[in-house]
Amino acid sequence: MREQCLYSNLYIPVHLYLYFSGKGETMVEEKDEDYDAETDARNAYSEIQKKLKKNSAALDALEFLEHDEYIQGLIDHANNVAINRFNYNDHGLTHSRIATRNALSILDLLNKRGISPNTVREMTGTYEDAQLIVLVATYLHDVGNGVHRHMHYHHGILLLSNVLDALLSRYYQPRKAARLKASIFECIYTHDEAVPCISIEGGCVTIGDGTDMANGRARVPFSKGKVDIHSISALAIKRVKIREGVEKPVRIEIEMTCSAGLFQIQEVLGPKIKTSGIKDYLEVIGTVDAKERERIFERIEFDKNVASR
Ligand SMILES: [Fe+2]
Ligand SMILES: [Fe+2]
Repeated sequence: MREQCLYSNLYIPVHLYLYFSGKGETMVEEKDEDYDAETDARNAYSEIQKKLKKNSAALDALEFLEHDEYIQGLIDHANNVAINRFNYNDHGLTHSRIATRNALSILDLLNKRGISPNTVREMTGTYEDAQLIVLVATYLHDVGNGVHRHMHYHHGILLLSNVLDALLSRYYQPRKAARLKASIFECIYTHDEAVPCISIEGGCVTIGDGTDMANGRARVPFSKGKVDIHSISALAIKRVKIREGVEKPVRIEIEMTCSAGLFQIQEVLGPKIKTSGIKDYLEVIGTVDAKERERIFERIEFDKNVASR
């Protein structure tokens, strides 16, 4: 009954299925004690490289982002401010890479089902250009936190203007570079749920960002004593997988070790889904794999109508 109350107000406006394997609230025991942010970051980096292997400009841009001292300084400082002054979770290199990998996966899955990025649809560039936009925007989306959390999606644009000119001039003539620069800034500006997305690329960046919510992101604030629903619910997310959907082009699978993880889906990912502009292309599946003596629910499904009440 407790579970029923907890989930009855779910409002995420997409198909959300919650499966309970029914084994209890043993989040502390279930935590991945071997979590290693460096391994996570390294894996995400190599997965991005694989996704971009046929796109030489984007692959080169990735190496630029990874090795440019100014850019890495921005990411480091944004993370420092987010963690030490706001007690937030990881906003550093690991988050940049994981969010980027997720965003590029979503872009590919949408494209595979005929949902072309705006760059292609509006004939302002190629699919490879759209990949580069999503890559750069997602990788850099949070650097504005280094100025202030408030309006961080705006501050990043000020910090990045010159370095993006340098980056884009490696591959594009000024006229096209200007288009891509504006598109990258658009995606950074709309990554936060405060600003609605206006392109497929922007939606990919927003959901890529929102789906980096596995427990490793909260480890630092939790270890510093931040015990609240934000850190507890983040620790309850074991794994997030992005794959081809069944009814919709993209399926987001979220494995939880404890029901508290629902807070992350409802309050962190949910608002991003709502403002992403791509919510109709997403299906979200939540599973709770916990050790409990009694099974409370075997399966709960929320379809679009129920969820949007
Ligand atoms: Fe952000
Ligand atoms: Fe972010």
